[in-house]
Amino acid sequence: MEGAAQANGKDKILLAYSGGLDTSVAIHWLKEKYGCDVVAVTIDVGQSDDLKDAMRRAKSIGASRAWVVDAKKEFVENYVLPALKANALYEGNYPLSTAIARPLMVRKLVEMAKRLDATSIAHGCTGKGNDQVRFEVSIMALAPEMDIIAPTRDWGMSREEEIAYAKQHNIPIPVTVDAPYSIDESIWGRAVECGVLEDPWAEPPEDIFQWTKGMDGSPDFPEYVEIGFVRGKPETLNGARLDLLALITKLNEIAGNNGVGRIDHIENRLVGIKSREVYEAPAAITLIKAHQDLESLVMTKDLLHYKKIVEQHYSDLVYNGLWFSPLREALDAFVDKTQELVTGTVRLKLFKGSAVVVGRESPFSLYNASLSTYAKGDEFDHSAAKGFIYVWGLPLKIGSIVKAKGEGNGATNEAAVGEESASTCK
Ligand code: ARG
Repeated sequence: MEGAAQANGKDKILLAYSGGLDTSVAIHWLKEKYGCDVVAVTIDVGQSDDLKDAMRRAKSIGASRAWVVDAKKEFVENYVLPALKANALYEGNYPLSTAIARPLMVRKLVEMAKRLDATSIAHGCTGKGNDQVRFEVSIMALAPEMDIIAPTRDWGMSREEEIAYAKQHNIPIPVTVDAPYSIDESIWGRAVECGVLEDPWAEPPEDIFQWTKGMDGSPDFPEYVEIGFVRGKPETLNGARLDLLALITKLNEIAGNNGVGRIDHIENRLVGIKSREVYEAPAAITLIKAHQDLESLVMTKDLLHYKKIVEQHYSDLVYNGLWFSPLREALDAFVDKTQELVTGTVRLKLFKGSAVVVGRESPFSLYNASLSTYAKGDEFDHSAAKGFIYVWGLPLKIGSIVKAKGEGNGATNEAAVGEESASTCK
């Protein structure tokens, strides 16, 4: 892969440029090592950075061209929405805000590389993370002929050495040794790593948070939100119809203001390392909670329980970089089918970091008050329960009798199986 870029000095390398330390240093390093043009491409998936400024920075460091591709709508419709329908939370915690952005970035980079006749794509991921896997596996799936360059993995510099390299070559960078965080954002969430967070015992300092208020800063009274879903897709917020991008943006603000969506997670990376990750994902956490709750109201028990197994498998698969796999597509088809009746409204109470569902309604609700009530109007056939329990408990009863016999102190089978229960429990 290095040969192809080196063989022809006029070759272009397309660099997935985030504007952060690694990719800023990479522009300079790639030009020096390969003597190629480096084209910096930043994919906008809703990160809050000033991407125009990142573009200017890329050029000032030496990129021959710098582009920002606005992929926010595509991101929410084709990546966030399927993840939400699948209630995707890796290890029950992390809403995959980075993991689902990578395959889209690769799709855009590959399109661009083909348009510009570039034969190599470079990314700024280290050799210890999941993102290198997601980038490269996605490139292999969409453009198997493409060369892949991973400077950050190859150059062998520590973060401190990178900062020193940047200073030495006048590369403007957003981090210092004192604020050494590695931050990654998409509209679905914000991930923070490194620095003091590498000590799992150390409480995350308040200044790492940007999307969520802490206990002290958030309002002293609860805020209610109502989210309306149609076939699993959130379409209204407090009664107002919004497109998905606008709805998520607004909910990030509202839920973040109430401190919702902070996640402190000891995470199992694909490459075998445990890492301590801190996330802020106010809209993601609120929407997943609301969506899960609505599903509980409208789905049959067996579908709901089976879907949970699929959800876990789906989250692992996406986390592990296999977005462009036939299995992910097949699971999405299953999940889509499950969403046909996931229509209704969920009401949540947001308060000092918690988002609690306090109400839900749906035209397809399977909740039947005359069956569940303990008050007047109860239509449940209580007498049917007796026969049901006789059949349901029969294997246990027989097993218990046989076991007791084996231990030498049992009654006879036949007598015990036919016996009436003396219990009067409901
Ligand atoms: N641990 C998360 C993941 O693997 C977030 C990674 C964030 N990346 C970063 N460069 N800070 O999806």
